[in-house]
Amino acid sequence: MRTGEKRIYLLIAVVVLGAMLWNFLRQRESSEHDREIPFYTTASAALLHEAGEIYRQQNCKECHTLWTVRNLMQAVPAPALDGMGSIHSEEWFFEYFSAQNPQQILPSRLKEEYQMPSFAHLPESERRTLAAYMASLKVRDWDLDEVRRARCAKLTGSENDC
Ligand code: HEC
Repeated sequence: MRTGEKRIYLLIAVVVLGAMLWNFLRQRESSEHDREIPFYTTASAALLHEAGEIYRQQNCKECHTLWTVRNLMQAVPAPALDGMGSIHSEEWFFEYFSAQNPQQILPSRLKEEYQMPSFAHLPESERRTLAAYMASLKVRDWDLDEVRRARCAKLTGSENDC
């Protein structure tokens, strides 16, 4: 190999290694949470199963997103339910689902057909199961402010006040 060629290979090697190092450093700089999912549940498998059934039967996904699942044909601007267990207590959920008029607990800005329906007609055991499930839907501390902000934007219909 001629000296000229060697120099060129060396130069290429330096550029490639430099680019790799640059990328590596940049990745470490970007937020360490970027690729983590902030949501998790503390529910047992039995609770997940039982509550999942009720959630399906009652068509909550017609209006709400949960674990990225929602009915795309519906455009009700209801808050996402991921992380809700870090916002309200289990008792709060039970009272909310049991209220004849949930809007007395949480006011609505929407037309009646889009508002949170009352689930007071469900058997108490089902309301308790739903409440326990909702309370188990947690968000990691580092994303809590973002969940609060997104919820506020849905409830008020404006990003500005949140
Ligand atoms: C017709 C649409 C609709 C359906 C169906 C529905 N919700 Fe809602 N829900 C809403 C809306 C809209 C709100 C926000 C308050 C309002 O505008 O009434 C809400 C609020 C809530 C909240 C409080 C959220 C917060 O930010 O504090 C919870 C929890 C909730 N719903 C759970 C459920 C569950 C569980 C089901 C099924 C059993 C369900 N919802 C079914 C529309 C709906």
